[in-house]
Order: sequence, then structure tokens, then C-alpha cells
Amino acid sequence: MVKLGVNIDHIASIRNLRRGFFPDPVFAAHIAEDAGADGITVHLREDRRHINDGDVKNLKRIIKTKLNLEMSISTDIVAFAKRIVPDYVCLVPEKRQELTTEGGLDIVSNRKKIEKVVGELKGKKIKVSIFIDPAFEQIDIAKKIGADFVELHTGKYADARNKTERKKELVKIKKASEYVLQLGIGLNAGHGLDYENVRDIAKIRGMNELNIGYSIICRAVFVGLFQAVKEMRGILKKK
Ligand code: PXP
Repeated sequence: MVKLGVNIDHIASIRNLRRGFFPDPVFAAHIAEDAGADGITVHLREDRRHINDGDVKNLKRIIKTKLNLEMSISTDIVAFAKRIVPDYVCLVPEKRQELTTEGGLDIVSNRKKIEKVVGELKGKKIKVSIFIDPAFEQIDIAKKIGADFVELHTGKYADARNKTERKKELVKIKKASEYVLQLGIGLNAGHGLDYENVRDIAKIRGMNELNIGYSIICRAVFVGLFQAVKEMRGILKKK
């Protein structure tokens, strides 16, 4: 069965609107786990716009599943991850002005820096994933620099404006997934997945985990977080 990583960043986004304590991401993580999440994902952004250092520390102490920390390769964030030792780290590109992570990390152009970070994190026994576009040349380098997993960026698929475009993006993701499996790397995917477009991605052979945030938190506003996670879990079970 495909695993579900629930990204709870936007629980913290809501909390930060009033700079207070509620809603609490740790409480959200508990609910998500009770509803069937296999892991909790958070992105510690350099500007700390949602999740902050304290949240990550608390989550690490309290969650019962796995903690997946999405992060850039900036020196202070890498140092923080090495202190906290989450179960997984997913390296992502980061731009201050972006609304969300736009595109995968270009490991072809930034190989040296990223390879060093992968080595440092693996040295702390943290499993390392890299968020990349579904492109063969990126997958090749991920393998060469020792990534345990890649997370294929499904944003273009999710944002496709029509069926033809979406199908084209799905084919790209499927081909890339086959290649990831051939090279013996773990296969994850995420970004922009919702209760409808997730089905075809969940059916991809060898898919290990999908990381989903925004659509679940949006649905939770109306049906509650437990129900929203349970419904997504149900879709992944059926696939
Ligand atoms: N995976 C990665 C690497 C991401 O950066 C994000 C967004 O933070 C997600 C998955 C989740 O994307 P969404 O919130 O669109 O479901």
C-alpha cells in the first residue's frame, strides 16, 4: 500500500496569523496519525513562515510514525537537521518570494554542494530524499550522490490546464518512476496532489509514499482533520 505523509505546514500558517499557539501542529500530527498517516512532513523554511524550530523539536519528540523534514541546503538548516536527526530529510529548492516550492532541486547544476549535504546527513543516519523534477538526468545524479529516495515533483501534473497536458505529465512521471526503480532508489512523489488527481499517481508501480499537504488541510476546514486524512488514506488504499 502506498504510504501517506501528511504535510502539516499550513496548520502552522494559520497559527502564525495571530502569532499565538493555536492550532498546534503537534496536536494536528496526533490527529493525522490517528486517522492513518504513515508519516508527518514539515518544511522548515529559511524565513520560518510556518513551521519553526520549536515545532520540529516537539514533533520529533512526540510523533509515533516518522518525521520527514523538508529543507533547503543552507548551512544553518543543515546544522539544525543534524542536531535534531529526523527520520527523513527531503532536500528541496527554496526561494524567499515563492508561495510554495516551485520545481525540483537542480542536482545536475548543484551537484557538489548537494552531495556534501547528503553525505553529512547520511553520516547522522538520516535517510535522505531529494525533491526533483521527473527527469532522467536528475535521477542519475541522485543515484550517484547516494540519495536513499527521490520525491518526484508532481506540480506540473497537478497544475495541468487540460486532460492532454495532464496525460503528458503523467507519462513523464511514470517513465521517471520506472527509471528510479531500475536504479534501486526509493520512489516518493508529491506536490499539488488532491482527492481527485492523486489516484493515477498512487497507481504507479513501486510508489512508496506520497506527501500531501494543502488539499488535506483545505478539506479539513470543512470536515475536520481526522476525516480529511482518513478520506485520503481510503483513496490510497483503494488505488
Ligand atoms: N513535497 C514537497 C517536497 C513539498 O515541498 C511540498 C510542499 O511543501 C509537498 C510535498 C506538499 O505539497 P502540497 O502542499 O501541494 O500537497
